[in-house]
Amino acid sequence: MFAIWWRWGLIATVPLLLLAVWDFFQDEHTLRRNYPLLARVRWLMEDLRPYARAYVVESDLEGRPFNHDERALVYARAKGELDSHPFGTELDVYSAEYEWLAHSIVPNETAPAEWRCDVGSSQCAKPYSASLLNISAMSFGSLSANAIMALNKGAAAGNFYHDTGEGGLSRYHRSHGGDLVWEIGSGYFGCRDDDGRFSPERFADTAQIDQVKMVEIKLSQGAKPGHGGVLPASKVSEEIAEARGVPVGKDCVSPAAHSTFSTPVGLLEWAAQLRDLSGGKPVGIKLCVGQPHEVFAIVKAMRETGIRLDYIVVDGAEGGTGAAPVELSNRVGTPLREGLILVRNALVGASLKDEIRLAAAGKVHSGAGMAMNFGLGADWCNAGRAFMFSLGCVQSMRCHEDTCPTGIATQDATRQRGLVVPDKAERVARFQRATLHGLREMVVAMGLESPWQITPCHINERLDSARAAPIDDIYGFLEDGALIADPDATAYARCWQLAQAASFQRAA
Ligand SMILES: Cc1cc2nc3c(=O)[nH]c(=O)nc-3n(C[C@H](O)[C@H](O)[C@H](O)COP(=O)(O)O)c2cc1C
Ligand code: SF4
Repeated sequence: MFAIWWRWGLIATVPLLLLAVWDFFQDEHTLRRNYPLLARVRWLMEDLRPYARAYVVESDLEGRPFNHDERALVYARAKGELDSHPFGTELDVYSAEYEWLAHSIVPNETAPAEWRCDVGSSQCAKPYSASLLNISAMSFGSLSANAIMALNKGAAAGNFYHDTGEGGLSRYHRSHGGDLVWEIGSGYFGCRDDDGRFSPERFADTAQIDQVKMVEIKLSQGAKPGHGGVLPASKVSEEIAEARGVPVGKDCVSPAAHSTFSTPVGLLEWAAQLRDLSGGKPVGIKLCVGQPHEVFAIVKAMRETGIRLDYIVVDGAEGGTGAAPVELSNRVGTPLREGLILVRNALVGASLKDEIRLAAAGKVHSGAGMAMNFGLGADWCNAGRAFMFSLGCVQSMRCHEDTCPTGIATQDATRQRGLVVPDKAERVARFQRATLHGLREMVVAMGLESPWQITPCHINERLDSARAAPIDDIYGFLEDGALIADPDATAYARCWQLAQAASFQRAA
């Protein structure tokens, strides 16, 4: 008996002793040299920190980017479970973060059961009827094959669209037939020649397939505006190379800027070319607002050339990504509310809003959030991370390490195994349906016929514990044509003056 204990004791302690000796002599980590073995607890705790914080430390209303209650709402709706809340709000309605929508004494129970948004200006031969909630751009490569398939199958079941993200249109996007918006970034993945330049022939081949309903030129995204990217050679698998049209096992570079245009007019001419090559499908842009005069420059270019974009997606600085430099994530880009209001004002002020649709992305996860965006000018909303929650994401924030525990943000086949496509596709569709139902509840309560009737004066913002105001008392909202009639009378006089159709630079 004693011999057995002795043997097990040795088996347990010898590796630890060896590790301690290794720590003592290695010269990389001071802590491990000074406290062999013991210091390793620190790294273990660092690894466990996100889980400990999420499950033990945080309250229901804490946690970023999404707090526990926000995630729980998506999980419940995705699973078709009870999503109502007992005993009254837990939010502090006198805190500066509180905002609310104004209901009516006469709710409109006869409001339509659902709405769709027609996208496509007069220059578009194949307009698209979009759902009011769609899946935001997230590439195959940052998401797994199973995640892409579940999202697309969910989109097909719920009749909404799935944006491919800039990483190309992969076979997984096509396997379930859900409507696609094909996003084209500066890497021109899926439509590039061997030197990485835009290839009209390759673009036309894919853009004309029926499943592609619209095309989106990506100018920037909120999580890393103005940043290109490199997918390291080790991650460029055969499947990713196939989707992107790049060589296997070589660094895959997305430059920070597009090579097809450098001026506002150039951007519009390229958009018009894409519309022609796609057979007349709507072509839009996605951007996180940076320097305001650049937005006004695009608007001026539309008026001067007569070329119209079909839609603009505004992404907020609060947006997510697979991986981003911290400086860009935390300190560059306009948050959604201010960005959306600016683009809304640029379009309305230049009398273009009737022709060009406006979409909003940035932490959309509930009907109330959607309603606020509609009130600020959005025609529909896109969600990225909320759809990831519907797939089972637990916000462990390991997306950049290829170790995603839920098989969503990884290319590791064993981790993807846990993500069962048919089951998760149902959750994706259920979450989308329930959120639209939540939006309708808001419209009914406000006594309106549609979410497009929500106006800034329906949205109230708390300024401090004693004061609150409708949002149009806080931000300016232009009347139709105000920038044409008398720009100097608007708050945007300077930006309008600086903007020029021929250049993104400020006018002298
Ligand atoms: C994993 C991941 C990958 C993304 N990839 C892209 C992309 O390829 N192109 C893009 O324009 N935006 C990309 N985004 C940004 C989203 O499309 C979206 O604009 C942003 O996350 C805000 O939406 P959300 O707050 O609902 O997630 C990505 C976001 C995530 C979380
Ligand atoms: S669960 Fe996966 S997708 Fe979600 S945050 Fe963690 S690593 Fe990213």
